[in-house]
Amino acid sequence: MIYLLSILITGAFATSLDFNRTECQSPTSEPLDGCPPGTLLVSQNATNSSASFATIQSAILSLPSDNSSATILILPGTYVEQLNVTRPGPLTLLGQTASPNNSSSNTVTVLWHEATGNDVNTFDNAYTSVLTIAPTLESSLTGSGPTGYAVPANTSFGTSDFRAYNLDFTNDYLPYSAGPSLALGVSYANAGFYHARFSSYQDTIYVGKLGQVYFDQCIIAGQTDFLYGFGTAWIENSTLLLRSCGGGITAWKGTNTTTPNKYGVYIHSSSVLPANSSIAAAIEGKCSLGRPWNELHRSIFAQTYLDRAILSQGYTDWSSSDPRVVPATFMAEFEDFGPGWSLRGREDGNVTRVLTQEEWEPYSGPEKVFEGGTAWVDKLSEV
Ligand SMILES: *[C@@H]1O[C@H](CO)[C@@H](O)[C@H](O)[C@H]1NC(C)=O
Ligand SMILES: *[C@@H]1O[C@H](CO)[C@@H](O)[C@H](O)[C@H]1NC(C)=O
Ligand SMILES: *[C@@H]1O[C@H](CO)[C@@H](O)[C@H](O)[C@H]1NC(C)=O
Ligand SMILES: *[C@@H]1O[C@H](CO)[C@@H](O)[C@H](O)[C@H]1NC(C)=O
Ligand SMILES: *[C@@H]1O[C@H](CO)[C@@H](O)[C@H](O)[C@H]1NC(C)=O
Ligand SMILES: *[C@@H]1O[C@H](CO)[C@@H](O)[C@H](O)[C@H]1NC(C)=O
Ligand SMILES: *[C@@H]1O[C@H](CO)[C@@H](O)[C@H](O)[C@H]1NC(C)=O
Ligand SMILES: *[C@@H]1O[C@H](CO)[C@@H](O)[C@H](O)[C@H]1NC(C)=O
Ligand SMILES: *[C@@H]1O[C@H](CO)[C@@H](O)[C@H](O)[C@H]1NC(C)=O
Ligand SMILES: *[C@@H]1O[C@H](CO)[C@@H](O)[C@H](O)[C@H]1NC(C)=O
Ligand SMILES: *[C@@H]1O[C@H](CO)[C@@H](O)[C@H](O)[C@H]1NC(C)=O
Repeated sequence: MIYLLSILITGAFATSLDFNRTECQSPTSEPLDGCPPGTLLVSQNATNSSASFATIQSAILSLPSDNSSATILILPGTYVEQLNVTRPGPLTLLGQTASPNNSSSNTVTVLWHEATGNDVNTFDNAYTSVLTIAPTLESSLTGSGPTGYAVPANTSFGTSDFRAYNLDFTNDYLPYSAGPSLALGVSYANAGFYHARFSSYQDTIYVGKLGQVYFDQCIIAGQTDFLYGFGTAWIENSTLLLRSCGGGITAWKGTNTTTPNKYGVYIHSSSVLPANSSIAAAIEGKCSLGRPWNELHRSIFAQTYLDRAILSQGYTDWSSSDPRVVPATFMAEFEDFGPGWSLRGREDGNVTRVLTQEEWEPYSGPEKVFEGGTAWVDKLSEV
């Protein structure tokens, strides 16, 4: 009874879209059939009508910088461009597809090719990202040191409710770790990704200051520190693909100066797998679950399947000369399973915390870790 009640209560906080996305996304002779009025259309074959755009960013820039809601439907193709969402209003990007529930058959890829330090204009990781969601350039910067870039205190929040369905974001700078190459950066904003795919090798996903990001039924591929940041991320029913090992899967930088929230990355009911069978043997027993970008790192892999690629001790120090592991460091697991799980290995390694039900409880759902409610979250999977 108590269990059922809690489902009803938490369900009330999350909202799915107020239209049938499957109808809007389905390929038809009139692509906008089934979409909400005012939906913008992006197509590489776009004509010069008022509602048509040849690039996704031109459609985003045509929207007013206010609190109005907007939807953009994107037709099949590879769009070589960087996307930058600064407006505060809700925005939904939809990829056209006949398989709206299959993350492996998306038809739209947003592609970019950049790493920090590669160009004159890339002294901060923010400039490399395929998709940036942040109200200002300053709020999107990483900076350095224990608390990163000092974002001006008067910076207002960006979008309250960004959503993307069935889109692939790829940063193909080089086919191995060669400096930060972001597929996604979210700061001072709420964003949800559904049936989306993110691919890079290093620092694939950045959740910056006051960033809150929900991933459901997504695929995230990387090699080094590929989930990193200051903010809060919940990854539900998704697949993390190891393209090799390097650093750790997670590298979080906690700071008590930006927000009182439960910053950290929470990977729940998901799978950690080698990217393909060719790489599987080479990485067996070698990949770290994570390492502390600063001492206040927080991440939890919970009820997640771990392939045999995972190192026996689970998490690792930042480096042997600079371990960064103190009592406050929170590199944890709860009820993980699969050949990459070893209680004995975790105990011997002495850096991974294996949580009890009671210790997991304060982090055990998106509504417990996100600030300000979860009305922007579309819970496709049951959490
Ligand atoms: C619209 O027309 C202009 C010139 O008239 C052209 O440069 C531009 O590429 C066209 N846009 C699209 C999306 O076809
Ligand atoms: C958007 O809404 C927020 C919160 O209600 C408000 O503070 C802000 O001024 C609004 N922004 C614009 C551009 O209307
Ligand atoms: C764009 O037009 C070309 C040539 O007419 C066609 O082959 C292609 O399928 C079209 N692409 C889309 C996304 O409509
Ligand atoms: C996708 O899944 C939703 C439920 O999550 C369902 O309503 C919808 O019909 C499915 N669409 C297709 C095309 O299977
Ligand atoms: C999802 O799409 C992939 C790639 O097209 C396909 O191999 C797979 O069978 C699909 N899965 C389902 C459940 O339809
Ligand atoms: C994103 O757009 C804003 C507003 O145009 C701009 O100030 C900022 O430099 C852009 N961010 C990046 C990372 O290019
Ligand atoms: C925020 O403060 C800076 C000075 O630190 C000032 O230049 C800027 O205009 C302020 N912005 C707003 C929106 O008040
Ligand atoms: C397997 O994945 C690795 C890492 O992404 C890649 O370098 C390699 O080309 C892939 N091999 C095959 C056969 O797809
Ligand atoms: C924040 O952390 C620093 C050291 O990590 C500590 O000295 C300081 O008291 C903390 N501040 C708050 C408000 O907890
Ligand atoms: C395990 O690590 C803690 C610090 O986190 C340390 O105090 C303790 O001595 C270590 N135990 C062993 C057996 O190394
Ligand atoms: C997890 O996602 C798969 C599709 O990838 C779906 O079939 C399954 O129902 C989801 N699990 C839950 C608990 O929603």
